[in-house]
Amino acid sequence: MQDKWQRLKRHHNKVEHRSILTLFQGAGRAQHFSARAGEMMLDFSKTNIDEAAFGLLLELAEVSGVAAKRDAMFAGDKINVTEGRAVLHTALRAPAGVSVMLDGVDVVPEVLAIRARMAAFADDVREGRFTGQDGRITDVINIGIGGSDLGPAMATIALSPYHDGPRVHYVSNVDGAHIADTLDGLNPETTLVVVASKTFTTIETMTNANTAKTWMARVVKSPGAQFAAVSTAADKTAAYGIDPARVFGFEDWVGGRYSLWGPIGLGVMLAVGPQAFGEFLKGGRDMDERFLSEPFMRNMPVLLALVGIWHNQICGHATRAVLPYDQRLSRLPAYLQQLEMESNGKRVAMDGSDLTTASGPVVWGEPGTNGQHAFYQLIHQGTRTVPCEFMVAREGHEPDLAHMHLLLVSNCLAQSEALMRGRSLEEATAIMAKKGLTGAELDMQARHRVFPGNRPSTTLVYPKLTPFVLGQIIALYEHRVFVEGVILGINSFDQWGVELGKELALALQPILEGKEGTKGKDGSTAGLVAYLRK
Ligand code: F6P
Repeated sequence: MQDKWQRLKRHHNKVEHRSILTLFQGAGRAQHFSARAGEMMLDFSKTNIDEAAFGLLLELAEVSGVAAKRDAMFAGDKINVTEGRAVLHTALRAPAGVSVMLDGVDVVPEVLAIRARMAAFADDVREGRFTGQDGRITDVINIGIGGSDLGPAMATIALSPYHDGPRVHYVSNVDGAHIADTLDGLNPETTLVVVASKTFTTIETMTNANTAKTWMARVVKSPGAQFAAVSTAADKTAAYGIDPARVFGFEDWVGGRYSLWGPIGLGVMLAVGPQAFGEFLKGGRDMDERFLSEPFMRNMPVLLALVGIWHNQICGHATRAVLPYDQRLSRLPAYLQQLEMESNGKRVAMDGSDLTTASGPVVWGEPGTNGQHAFYQLIHQGTRTVPCEFMVAREGHEPDLAHMHLLLVSNCLAQSEALMRGRSLEEATAIMAKKGLTGAELDMQARHRVFPGNRPSTTLVYPKLTPFVLGQIIALYEHRVFVEGVILGINSFDQWGVELGKELALALQPILEGKEGTKGKDGSTAGLVAYLRK
């Protein structure tokens, strides 16, 4: 295994400064370094990965035991060792007829039963059988944070052309501004609140839920009747006073950031309806089947993971930009930040030993073309290389605005081309000389206009952002993160790194209230407390 890493690093040292563009001289590169999943295509030919690197990366995946660990995950083995849990979010999108055994019990019938209850409730709300104090529900507020917010919030925006239900809003931040701005203009008598929390203890969510309840209680006689809950903690939802008929449970074998496919997706189902939600699940399942069956050299999640490993752990590029040329994927980068950074932002291996490679990358991004007018300057001319992951649909949802879609696509393709091709000093000099510049001025102006190029990117193209395609994309990224985690040897399914801050925030509350002093706090924290208490 160490040998594979070393060989990859040695190979990278040899080819680091080679031009990616020259790799296209041999025929068929674009086809060879791309993969298909149905109608979706991933092009990773605009990277410095050549045949030798590709072979070594595939060998790395083999010797890391990706296939065995993938099968163990799907089979319900307790691969989340630090929490002693199985990892079975894939069971949430399993169709009827498939069995997924956990501790000798098939979990699929229960998954299907809860999905049927969700669908019945969603239909009742959407068709006006479940009402608020003043009639039909017009607005839904999903209160949750992290995995209980980012996934459904992202998917609700992504699927806006399919919305035919109530408006669905998402509140996550414990900053009162978030809920205040959301409640502003809503009618409590026609609003449904969904409290989404796996643990039902998360302080931000419970505080926001209490605020919503108080807001509703001002006008609604039984505010609890307009509350629903999504959680693994049935005892806590009952203690909170939510009728079990409106509680949608799931099990601890679904990680928060992987939970969109089950009851945490209730907000999405309310917005688009059970049928479209079912299409989303089918898309996820489609990617699962490909991940399970395709040989690694054609397996899209494995390939995307290997490109990630190449750029981060081998080339040393610490960040990864996700750049959807799809406005409706505006929250995808934020969603992927949690998926990737909470999963693979770990410093120790499964057995607790220090990682010998870098952990997962910093993930960030914004939709194109907005990003072009903001941070692309650095991507093109900054001193650091940022591998970019472009995404774009062949077709938009606005046939009468097809000319705009064409412009969007041309910008997307132009960016990856420009990143790879760059512009040499000779080219820049010729352009500026044509404008009449000469001498030192020409030289200076030309140097500012040089693009070093040779900057890697991948492009994911898909037919149209339908519920099915969204399901494929999300499952693709889930499995990519899984494969990267296996290769790094880490547990991608715990998140101990979020705990310390939570503990210290709890301890700071009485200090900020003035009930306790700052004794034992460092000078900076004590100074900030003193300022904020004034
Ligand atoms: O603090 C991190 C985290 O535990 C995430 O992993 C999770 O998605 C989020 O908080 C919300 O947790 P819950 O759904 O239990 O409220």
